[in-house]
Amino acid sequence: MPTVKKDFTNVQVLFNNEIYPYHYLIGLKTPNQVCSYPGQFLQLRLLDKNQFLRKPFSIFDQESNVLKILYKIRGHVTKELSTLKEGDSLDIIYPLGQGFPASGARKVLLVSGGTGFAPLHFLAKRYADSSGVEVKFLIGSSGAEVLEFEKLLKPLGVKAIIATEDGSVGKKGVVTNLFKDISDIKEYIICSTGPVEMLKEIYSFAHSKGIKTYFSLESHFACGLGFCWGCAIETKNGSLRVCKEGPIFEGDLIAWEKI
Ligand SMILES: Cc1cc2nc3c(=O)[nH]c(=O)nc-3n(C[C@H](O)[C@H](O)[C@H](O)COP(=O)(O)OP(=O)(O)OC[C@H]3O[C@@H](n4cnc5c(N)ncnc54)[C@H](O)[C@@H]3O)c2cc1C
Ligand code: FES
Repeated sequence: MPTVKKDFTNVQVLFNNEIYPYHYLIGLKTPNQVCSYPGQFLQLRLLDKNQFLRKPFSIFDQESNVLKILYKIRGHVTKELSTLKEGDSLDIIYPLGQGFPASGARKVLLVSGGTGFAPLHFLAKRYADSSGVEVKFLIGSSGAEVLEFEKLLKPLGVKAIIATEDGSVGKKGVVTNLFKDISDIKEYIICSTGPVEMLKEIYSFAHSKGIKTYFSLESHFACGLGFCWGCAIETKNGSLRVCKEGPIFEGDLIAWEKI
């Protein structure tokens, strides 16, 4: 499959399902197939909706020329996106950014918070297709939408361990509380995406145990294509752009005290 970046206008909506209040899974059919890797994202623009900047969304899944995004309604664009129906069109640029690297690890711990579930679903799918890698998936969430996320993992044969802040599903509390139940955690690498406070806590735990980590970071994007530096974060190698050198960064590279 070619790996060039593609700018597609008139991408067709195949479905746009509300899986839980404010949470949608949308399927998009692109004119051609371009290979994307877990952790990469697309930039989306609605047609005829007065949208100034494109908006970034992680790729939740790709099967040939069908891309899926899992999104939560937050503001104007996501609200308008939720109104699209089968047969409607929009415009996207993908794949963008760097995906999770091939680590060669035999045990991988995926830890998601909120809609950070989306890129890790794609990563879990890639690992499920490659034999011999043991995958554990910890999902943290503020509430019961996590049950819908769990259902999305079932076709992959990946079992989820859940923590919710309100205790409505799984263990009550934050997702990092689940680490103590994994006795062989030092044998894993951790790939995680979610709120930055969660990522900081994970890095601090992992660093103290010598566990390798990869994080997907979110920041407010302007161009999303590497031109404006509006998304830059501080790292031990100076400023790096989340949209270009990221969004996946190795934990040891990030200047955590500055983000
Ligand atoms: C690399 C990357 C991948 C992303 N992947 C996904 C994804 O898979 N699914 C998904 O639902 N969202 C994802 N996002 C966030 C998504 O881009 C925003 O939800 C979207 O831009 C909101 O647009 P809006 O016009 O609806 O809301 P806006 O009007 O832009 O924002 C509404 C409110 O939400 C807040 N907000 C905006 N973006 C974020 C954010 N990233 N985190 C927390 N609060 C935010 C704003 O500060 C504001 O208060 C991703 C962001 C990045 C940078
Ligand atoms: S958003 Fe413009 S460089 Fe990243």
